[in-house]
Amino acid sequence: MMTKASNRSHIRIWDLPTRLFHACFASCIAGALITAKIGNAWMDWHVRLGIAALALLSFRIIWGLIGPRYARFSQFMCGPARVWAYITSLSKQAKKTPGHNPLGALSVLAMLLITGIQAITGLFANDDILTQGPFAQFVSDSTSAFMTGLHQLNEKFVFAIIALHLLAILVYTLKGEKLIGPMVHGDVAAQNLVATTVPARDDLQIRLLALSLSLVLACAAWWLIQLAANAGSSFN
Ligand code: HEM
Ligand code: HEM
Repeated sequence: MMTKASNRSHIRIWDLPTRLFHACFASCIAGALITAKIGNAWMDWHVRLGIAALALLSFRIIWGLIGPRYARFSQFMCGPARVWAYITSLSKQAKKTPGHNPLGALSVLAMLLITGIQAITGLFANDDILTQGPFAQFVSDSTSAFMTGLHQLNEKFVFAIIALHLLAILVYTLKGEKLIGPMVHGDVAAQNLVATTVPARDDLQIRLLALSLSLVLACAAWWLIQLAANAGSSFN
């Protein structure tokens, strides 16, 4: 007799909080890059979007520890041996194991690390004109200049990892593997997954947990934005 899970035509892989995280995070990072490039009056928005990206990153790290099955780091973290085994078996795989594949997991970690460095150095950065991160006022000028230098240097890695991310998604899409849809609606067709696939939890309780966590992080972000705005107005 077939089990209830194997009866489903689609299986929930990405819970709503993870999907919302992705949409908001991609928007904030894109927004932070665009506003930094326009500069001038848009730097206020750069700081707001950068701090929002930091809050989202914090959410994702906590969600990676307490969130549903496929969002957990323990589910997709793996060593070089598994990454290599995945690469060498790429053409032979018919049915997929759910969640991030070993190569995808590596790029997710790189993306979180690189954008994390960008957001944290931003907190101490200043442009010597009107804009400064909320903590620049608490460190020496040389420390702030050092962090600003790192912020500018790391920018290149941010662009590179985003380009790699988009290229990888394009390659998988051209190969016929649907990754974008599941990151939008959450589900993968059961016929494309190994038979043992268990759905991710995505019920009201787990969503309320994510909402509570988001509210706490939004308050922290709001406080940082106010701190940066006050520091900026007393800068000149
Ligand atoms: C992950 C999110 C972020 C991204 C992608 C990002 C990206 C950038 C980029 C591309 C620049 C222009 C650097 C250049 O002049 O070439 C910049 C400048 C700047 N960012 Fe960010 N940033 C982020 C987060 C933050 C945060 C959280 C803050 C502060 C709260 C911040 C504060 C600044 C400041 C003060 C500058 C001007 C520094 C200068 O004169 O070069 N950034 N950022
Ligand atoms: C600045 C832009 C972007 C950033 C910073 C970004 C970042 C990320 C991150 C951090 C993840 C991991 C998700 C998680 O486990 O929480 C991810 C996954 C993913 N992203 Fe993006 N993303 C960006 C743009 C896009 C765009 C434009 C698309 C679609 C065209 C896209 C499609 C995907 C897909 C399909 C996955 C899941 C990959 C998999 O199944 O392993 N991303 N992205």
